[in-house]
Amino acid sequence: MKGVILAGGLGTRLYPLTYATNKHLLPIYDKPMIYYPIQTLVKAEIKEILVVVSGPHSGHFIHVLKNGKEFGVEHLEFAYQEKPDGGIADALAVAEDFADNKPITVILGDNTTDADISVPLKKFIDGAMVFLKKVPDPKRFGVPRFDPKDNSKIIEIIEKPKNPPSNYAVTGLYVYDNKVFDFIQKCDPSYIGRGELEITQVNNFYLKENKLHWAELNGYWLDAGTFDSLFLSNQYWAKKKNSKL
Ligand code: DAU
Repeated sequence: MKGVILAGGLGTRLYPLTYATNKHLLPIYDKPMIYYPIQTLVKAEIKEILVVVSGPHSGHFIHVLKNGKEFGVEHLEFAYQEKPDGGIADALAVAEDFADNKPITVILGDNTTDADISVPLKKFIDGAMVFLKKVPDPKRFGVPRFDPKDNSKIIEIIEKPKNPPSNYAVTGLYVYDNKVFDFIQKCDPSYIGRGELEITQVNNFYLKENKLHWAELNGYWLDAGTFDSLFLSNQYWAKKKNSKL
């Protein structure tokens, strides 16, 4: 399967850190942030990768990633999201040609995890798959509501709910069949009022067609999009590395 890393956006939550470069090139302990999603994909045997970039510092990526060979990437491509903060689904739309009508694994460039997703990936047939993780602060994320009669069934995903219906976050790791690009066309920028094309709306389209599968992510997971989560991610990865010394 091919992989897509979404590394666009303006990183405004991290101003002033992101005045000088893109969020995904900031350090998480001893590596630029984007190394982590690359490693997650390569660990799952995904070696054809598209990195979607946007915004004023897009050119910085090539200096850092080069041709991807040092990560074990066989083919690395870059694509440009024209509206820098058009939203996650808007960034994914740019990957349509790269996907070539086949399923793709998508990871957000600010998500770091040590989970191994190869087993669920092998089982993927069609539709979409999301990975869930129990979190202390679900209000920050897309959150699934489970069917009270069958708690293995998601009935809705709510983006940044004021009253979260569960303690799970929908992580920024997704697998989609090629229908995703049709669903993105149907997304509405006013969906939750931040003017972006939301990946949660895409996931809810799959849900309506009974085609949204989910798995729990085994391992550490956090996004690094806020000062606190960036700090926590740095701590986790520093500890993990130093405990191996
Ligand atoms: O981290 C998981 C969460 O990520 C999910 O639980 C939410 O459902 C999902 O909407 C997303 O929420 P955030 O508000 O944290 O997304 P953020 O705007 O920080 O964007 C996350 C990444 O997506 C970012 O690091 C790069 C990529 N992105 C984002 C935007 C807005 C793009 O490539 N282009 C964009 O225009």
